[in-house]
Amino acid sequence: MAYAAFRSIGAYIPPKIMTNFDFEKIIDTTDEWITKRTGIKERRISEENEASSDLGAKAAQQAIERSGLAKEDIDLVICATVTPDYLCMPSTACLIASKINLPPVQAFDVSAACTGFVYAVSVAKAFIESGMKKNVLIVGAETYSSILDYTDRGTCFIFGDGAGAAIISASENKDEAIVDVNCSSDGNYDDLIKTPGGGSKHPCSQEVLDNKMACIKMKGNETFKLAVRTLTADVKVMMEKHNLTNKDINHFIPHQANMRIIKSVGDALGFNEEQTVVTIDKYGNTSAASIPMAMNYAYEQGKIKAGDSILFDAFGGGLTWGSALFPFAPLK
Ligand code: UT7
Repeated sequence: MAYAAFRSIGAYIPPKIMTNFDFEKIIDTTDEWITKRTGIKERRISEENEASSDLGAKAAQQAIERSGLAKEDIDLVICATVTPDYLCMPSTACLIASKINLPPVQAFDVSAACTGFVYAVSVAKAFIESGMKKNVLIVGAETYSSILDYTDRGTCFIFGDGAGAAIISASENKDEAIVDVNCSSDGNYDDLIKTPGGGSKHPCSQEVLDNKMACIKMKGNETFKLAVRTLTADVKVMMEKHNLTNKDINHFIPHQANMRIIKSVGDALGFNEEQTVVTIDKYGNTSAASIPMAMNYAYEQGKIKAGDSILFDAFGGGLTWGSALFPFAPLK
């Protein structure tokens, strides 16, 4: 059986910065309130002519270069996004594949909101272990600025734009194998985070436009409480299943939704500051891109080395949640 190895990480951080002070000018808020409640100081915003595939393609390019593989070696592209370039088709993964000049290749999107990248890891792992594919490019790419209602003071300051990408490859070495990925969902909580209009339930209409129903609506406080509970329980199950303690994990990389969530979950699980990767202050919440952008940040800081054990933990709209446990296994 082939094992699935996590070979490389890359990201694209849009240069345009929107600070909390910029939000003070457009909604009734303060830098102090946002910082205290979320840990966010600033977030990145894509250019007007940039869509998720543009950000994703740049992150993908970097992940491929760092993997040491040739483009021709990639035999599957998966993009996790809930801000696709187009509502229905083509998929953002198809566009990324063509923008980075891959030869014809299987490509599709996964939709699991902020858990999307962890879902993509699980799909890549399954394709490789089944022997169907050898080198999978996974991308998390989001332009939340395109679905934010900049008059909604409870939600608009949280999210930002960006992309991250990784290569997952077949290996014969069990020590390199992704140990486990556990993903789940509960659609009974669909109302907590939702874009209510523009899909088949409420197709685009004047009402959808007037009420900004294609923008994200979030019940922040309820989501917050569920996030802390679910993320903590999810990691506990994963660690117990593999007989691990927090000391066995080099890098805990949680979804970057809120610094208070990261801290509560980290404290409950006993991860210290050194182990926990935090980028929420710089990038805000970039949904499916948040975990790979955070991993890339730690990698570029020189903190992630070959063989280090990494734990992803994500939570988002759906509701969806998931965790992934793996060693970093670069080829070079
Ligand atoms: O990534 C997917 C998962 N998403 C999440 O995990 C998001 C989780 N939720 C959160 O991060 C937090 O719930 C928020 C940051 C969105 C909000 O923080 P909160 O502590 O839950 O605030 P709240 O909604 O309970 O509101 C508390 C107060 C209210 O005022 P009163 O009623 O206490 O007088 C709000 O009106 O804060 C007020 N408020 C604001 N004040 C200044 C709400 N938004 C703002 C704002 N600036 N932007």
